[in-house]
Amino acid sequence: MSSRFSYSQKLSNPLQNNLASHIVGELFSPEECDEAHRIISQWQGYQPTPLMSLSDIAASAGVDQIFYKDESGRFDLGSFKALGGAYAIDCLMHKAPENKLVVCTATDGNHGRSVAWAADFCQAECHIFIHAKVSAARADALAALGATIHRVEGNYDDSIVACREQAVKYGWQIVSDTSWPGYRDVPKLVMTGYSVMTHELIQQLGDTKPTHIILQAGCGAMAGALIASMWLHWGPSLPTVIVVESDKSDCVYQSLKRDQIHLVNIVEETLMAGLSCGEVSELAWPIIRAGVSHVITINDEGIGPMVRWLANPTTSDRPAIVGGECSASGLIALLAIQQDPTLADEVGMDGRSRVLVIGTEGNTDAAVYDAIMRGDI
Ligand SMILES: Cc1ncc(COP(=O)(O)O)c(C=O)c1O
Repeated sequence: MSSRFSYSQKLSNPLQNNLASHIVGELFSPEECDEAHRIISQWQGYQPTPLMSLSDIAASAGVDQIFYKDESGRFDLGSFKALGGAYAIDCLMHKAPENKLVVCTATDGNHGRSVAWAADFCQAECHIFIHAKVSAARADALAALGATIHRVEGNYDDSIVACREQAVKYGWQIVSDTSWPGYRDVPKLVMTGYSVMTHELIQQLGDTKPTHIILQAGCGAMAGALIASMWLHWGPSLPTVIVVESDKSDCVYQSLKRDQIHLVNIVEETLMAGLSCGEVSELAWPIIRAGVSHVITINDEGIGPMVRWLANPTTSDRPAIVGGECSASGLIALLAIQQDPTLADEVGMDGRSRVLVIGTEGNTDAAVYDAIMRGDI
């Protein structure tokens, strides 16, 4: 099994220069993160998501411990994205005249569910733009939350363009997880919502500090939010941060290589639908640039085996975990690093390492998940 976990490209980030307070401060303050936690923890159904130890996979990877933050149960929406778009809508609703708001977003699925869920709760009209390859299961889940679905030709980045055009035409409020020049306030709220994961993690980890953190990136909003909020806690002793992305949408890799945000034209969709973004978020970029030590890109090959491994523990000390395609990516990267002694040495990973990965989603696309569990993928 293990020989299937390999990486496609690696980049040691030449631009990493230790995060500084002013870079993080431009994104959010400790007070803003505390406020997001205060508000989100009052939402009905809020519970911190569990932090698990994966001793079976850790033994295989030759590291001391793997901490896995399991986001599959987040507000019954199946992914951490429930924290971001919904938090932005909660904040926007309080500012909207007579609480009237029409919202829209582009999505691969999970961010849209967060937006549609909150819009439904607030009785706000909601328009969701999805690209041609977003699965029927994901589209149905969005429609079930009362959103109007707009199918767009092309890829994720084309769906953003369509969403922006319609928003201008009809005066809708865009609630995007990614930001671009002139559009920062709402994505900042989205990222502040994600910082709740860090708040929980710090409590769950107690005195134990990970040596490494592996974060998967689509547009990089989650990675940026977690790096920044962890920096607010750990400061310059922030663990080594490794980003993993799909080799079919390697926008962090390509941007770091050029030292500027670079749009990747996605010609083929990865199975990891949530990671299929061609451009790094403008807000996340300075944090990723300064805070990330290495980037690993992976292909889809290891996903099926890893999702099945999560579901079928090989030791008795952990439960079966429903981890979707994106959740597998951090663990695939970890095993790939450990199978390349030079790379393991470069990132400083060995038998004493304690590695934090985020299980960003559960079964968010039943057709794909079932096919994986049947062994068809
Ligand atoms: C399950 C899952 N994991 C990871 C990501 C990546 O997050 P970001 O686009 O903020 O980098 C996404 C994005 O949609 C996602 O849905």
